[in-house]
Amino acid sequence: MKILVTGGAGYIGSHTCVELLNENYDIVVLDNLSNSSKESLNRVKNITKKSLDFYKADLLDKKQIIAVFSEHKIDAVIHFAGLKAVGESVSIPLRYFHNNITGTLNLLAVMDEFNVKNIVFSSSATVYGDPASLPIKEDFPLSATNPYGRTKLMIEEILQDVYISDKNWNIALLRYFNPVGAHKSGEIGEDPFGIPNNLMPYISQVAIGHLPWLSVFGNDYNTPDGTGVRDYIHVVDLALGHIKTLPKLFTNPGLLIYNLGTGSGYSVLEMIKGLEAASNKKIPYKIVDRRPGDIDACFADPAKAKEELGWETKKTLTDMCKDAWNWQKKNPKGYR
Ligand code: NAD
Ligand code: UD1
Repeated sequence: MKILVTGGAGYIGSHTCVELLNENYDIVVLDNLSNSSKESLNRVKNITKKSLDFYKADLLDKKQIIAVFSEHKIDAVIHFAGLKAVGESVSIPLRYFHNNITGTLNLLAVMDEFNVKNIVFSSSATVYGDPASLPIKEDFPLSATNPYGRTKLMIEEILQDVYISDKNWNIALLRYFNPVGAHKSGEIGEDPFGIPNNLMPYISQVAIGHLPWLSVFGNDYNTPDGTGVRDYIHVVDLALGHIKTLPKLFTNPGLLIYNLGTGSGYSVLEMIKGLEAASNKKIPYKIVDRRPGDIDACFADPAKAKEELGWETKKTLTDMCKDAWNWQKKNPKGYR
């Protein structure tokens, strides 16, 4: 079985490549390296002692996608490629719509042309907006609060329309909660360009001494300690969710939608404590104003994925913090 992994050099993509190779899938990675480094794929090969095909290609250039499909008989696509910074999407929405939507439309058109109709799409818990109750189930109402989230929602809708038009498609919409941590080897991990936007990479960079303190965005939320609560999921558990999805996709199930989360929420202060314990370092922090658009709490009901895919998370908060720190310590400057 040969899988095309778009965005495979990125954070979640590289971890999924490791698990795909461990399961003896052949893989082809397509990535324009706009938010990643090719070094991640060298590390994937070192970890697995297996090879993969890499194309530095852009989904915005259809000819480059056609070249990949002409050279390989692809059985399914896992589509990670996209821009993902919420704040940036508010300041440059057109770039986000063009990259994420047009990129996906190009990919789908080429898949259609080559009669490859199996796709797993990286969606996000952001499509639930501010949920009315918790835990979040797949049939909750959907909404978007920023252009990034809107691209996820629009792509979900596009994929559903594609399925309605042609029942030969098999489509899995995987809604990720908050991926953190790294492969246990410490060889691959999250390597944000510039100052991180997300909590865990920010805390890690404070722990390593690159940043002086963490700004905690508000302590007046309706949560046990007042700081925001999220469903942090170890990136390897998340990667394994894709491994469990593929065999199901090959049984011609049509359209599938799953939450990939742990079902538990942790607060910002709990995450700080977790990383302090893992790193044995004090993490200085200051309470500042809320970040616009943030919600009190968000965590998944992952029961559907457990029931239908036999997937559930195994790793604990301690594993997430230990592995995030191991990666940060071994690679203080990321892949550079
Ligand atoms: P990432 O930025 O590390 O990986 C995305 C990859 O896509 C990068 O390697 C980038 O170079 C590539 N890419 C972007 N635009 C491209 C294009 N036009 N052509 C080819 N390659 C392109 O991000 P990630 O954290 O690994 O996220 C992977 C996917 O999961 C994204 O779609 C993201 O929106 C989604 N997601 C991520 C999170 C998260 O917290 N990390 C949460 C929910 C959903
Ligand atoms: C963010 C995005 C979401 C996206 C997800 C993964 C927003 C509003 N949402 O989710 O759409 O799918 O990333 O890329 O950006 N926090 C701090 N200080 C920091 C950073 C974060 O206190 O420096 C807090 C936040 O207020 C939040 C929690 O930490 O309560 C997690 O934040 P973050 O890692 O950015 O993830 P989300 O906001 O859940």
